[in-house]
Amino acid sequence: MSETKKTRTEDLFSPKGMRDIAGNDYYRFQGFFEKAQEIANFYGFEPIETPVLEKTEVFATGVGEGTDIVEKEMYELKTKGGDSLVLRPEGTAAIMRSYIEQGMMNRPQPVYLYTYGPYFRHDKPQKGRYRQFYQFSVEILGKTKSTLDALVIYLGYKILEEAGIKDVSIKLNSIGDKESRTEYLRALTGYYRKFVNQLPPVDRERLKKNPLRILDSKEEKTKELNVNAPQALNYLNPVSKKHFKEVIEHLDELGVPYTIDHTMVRGLDYYTHTVFEYFATVSSEFGDGTESLALGGGGRYDYLAKRLGSKKDIPAVGMALGVDRILELSTTDLAPRIMKKPKVCFIQLGIEAKTKSLAIIEALRKAKMPLFHALGKDNISSQLAQAEKMGIPVAIIFGQKEAIDGTVMVRNMENRQQKTVPIEELAEYLKKMKI
Ligand code: HAM
Repeated sequence: MSETKKTRTEDLFSPKGMRDIAGNDYYRFQGFFEKAQEIANFYGFEPIETPVLEKTEVFATGVGEGTDIVEKEMYELKTKGGDSLVLRPEGTAAIMRSYIEQGMMNRPQPVYLYTYGPYFRHDKPQKGRYRQFYQFSVEILGKTKSTLDALVIYLGYKILEEAGIKDVSIKLNSIGDKESRTEYLRALTGYYRKFVNQLPPVDRERLKKNPLRILDSKEEKTKELNVNAPQALNYLNPVSKKHFKEVIEHLDELGVPYTIDHTMVRGLDYYTHTVFEYFATVSSEFGDGTESLALGGGGRYDYLAKRLGSKKDIPAVGMALGVDRILELSTTDLAPRIMKKPKVCFIQLGIEAKTKSLAIIEALRKAKMPLFHALGKDNISSQLAQAEKMGIPVAIIFGQKEAIDGTVMVRNMENRQQKTVPIEELAEYLKKMKI
């Protein structure tokens, strides 16, 4: 008989960069999604959920072959049938795929959508960077209007504010339409070609594949060269200039703070016109300095539809927030609505009481009385101590005698007064206590 290798529990722990979300952390995620949905819903956005797996081309062509996401970070799998699928690294290309597939162009335009859930990037895990992470995003598809760009930026800002993120800064830029972008790319390529011998290998490669990416290079030498690189805003044609000017006017009107950052181009290829990112200042992991952490980003993507095979352009704009990072920074209580602070603690004692307990608990659930129970415990003093620790104002004590009499003992935890109440009057009695 061949000897099988003994499994060690730690060999089965969750994959690197992925984690379990449980307990209070789970409630905070739920609470955040509930708040974000409430805001999006108010502004007329509808929910959508696309599959976690998509055909590889959705992102390879949608997000762009030369991007880090597609080149290095996609989890790709081959199915037994030979299809090539990926775990979605982002949501925008999938939503555009869905808009086209579902014929949403036949609905009144624009279509306002929101979505949230897990995304996957094979990134280097570190604080605020996971391989399975969560986004909340909004997308408006079908119109070119600058008001929509401003609405998307505003919405992200409001969600961050309500989630308790203070001092959000917004970086804004425009890379213009196709014509402006072509002109700009020509100027940019010309500029870096002059310095090609000074460019580090990674940026020399980018010069061939995706020169815009050189602008957010982390290489020191490139950063120096970037200072004098041509700026996209100087290459905007009149249409693009007008669009950007209007976005800025709307943001000023809405009182949304922003700074224009001409080096910001974003790491995905589908953008046109407006691009933006939300930042918070956090203390850096090493040393005692501070650094900026991107809490979200987005922009307009008027030509993505054609990249995905649409015959017509479908103008669109959207943004995604990085929920893991937001929750790591937020100190606000983000409990979801289903979480209610218990008002009564149900304490039982003895086998007779235990079997009858569930019926009483169920009656109180129907009466919408938030309750905490410790059915797994037998000892009355440990159950009372728990009620005290949780600051629950009323305890219901259900012992052997009460079980026989069909009553419970209601105890006011503050003044310790107790009263015997028939079970059928309990819900009404508790309501009258106005706890
Ligand atoms: P993105 O900038 O790639 O944009 O991602 C948006 C946000 O997701 C980031 O700002 C960050 O907060 C969070 N994020 C990204 N990668 C990770 C990670 N590995 N771990 C934790 N958080 C992460 C997009 O995804 C676009 N689809 C946004 C968009 C929507 N553009 C138009 N519509």
